[in-house]
Amino acid sequence: RTVYVNGEYLPEDQAKVSVFDRGFLFADGVYEVTSVLDGKLIDFAGHAKRLQRSMDELDMKAAIDMDDLLGIHRELVVRNDLSEGLIYLQVTRGAADRDFLYPAEDTPPTIVLFTQAKPGLAANPMAKTGMKIVTVPDRRWGRRDIKTVQLLYPSMGKMAAKAQGADDAWMVEDGAVTEGTSNNAYIVKDGVIVTRHLGEEILHGITRKAVLALAREAQMKVEERAFTLEEALQADEAFITSASSFVMPVVSIDGETVGTGKPGKIVGRLREIYLEEMR
Ligand code: PDD
Repeated sequence: RTVYVNGEYLPEDQAKVSVFDRGFLFADGVYEVTSVLDGKLIDFAGHAKRLQRSMDELDMKAAIDMDDLLGIHRELVVRNDLSEGLIYLQVTRGAADRDFLYPAEDTPPTIVLFTQAKPGLAANPMAKTGMKIVTVPDRRWGRRDIKTVQLLYPSMGKMAAKAQGADDAWMVEDGAVTEGTSNNAYIVKDGVIVTRHLGEEILHGITRKAVLALAREAQMKVEERAFTLEEALQADEAFITSASSFVMPVVSIDGETVGTGKPGKIVGRLREIYLEEMR
């Protein structure tokens, strides 16, 4: 692969980042994952906007030109002949001698991008079979709306799911589902789509925003509010959204069947609409 590091396109084995990088030492960095279908970026504008917001919330002052960033994304698609897959982007506060205090504001940020080819991303067979979910307590920090690279807890959640023969985990706080380890969580009950309201407790998913807008356009009912695990277990349908899964049905939670145990009608329709409108 050709990757991008701080202004250069390099073969992946020649790309280097400092051992003093604050992303490495303090998880002092933010990221975005943008999907690519038919060689085209899906909703880059949404990801660029959220990247800027994450940086602003962390007082990361580096000026990043979003048009330049778009150019780098496109260049990587071309150089890697990427038809279907993901582009990962990470920006850290840069390299400085280890100190909890932030380094000087003119410290150059570390900007890294790489591609991941995922043939069959849109035709993922899981859309037909649905995902098995387990739940874990949400033990992340309190600013989950900032897309930082502190991903150890979500990683533990995915390992816990795997150990139980499931595909992913939903996180639960005060009895309510916050979100999935790397996706937003939804249920459908009596034709109403329910997903947690925006706040500091969840990531403001770019796919979430697009899917909710498309659902409303299609005259579907949407409620943005917290829902309990109990409600999820009684739901007619359940699903997740993310840049890497688009819209994906959930058919069981903690070993209990959701609805009929097959992917629901509404989630199927939403996936169709999303892929049709966004690609
Ligand atoms: N994850 N919630 C969390 C905690 C996430 O990490 C993600 C994205 C989402 C969905 O956001 P979006 O629709 O903008 O992808 C929700 C990415 C895909 C990842 O970490 O790979």
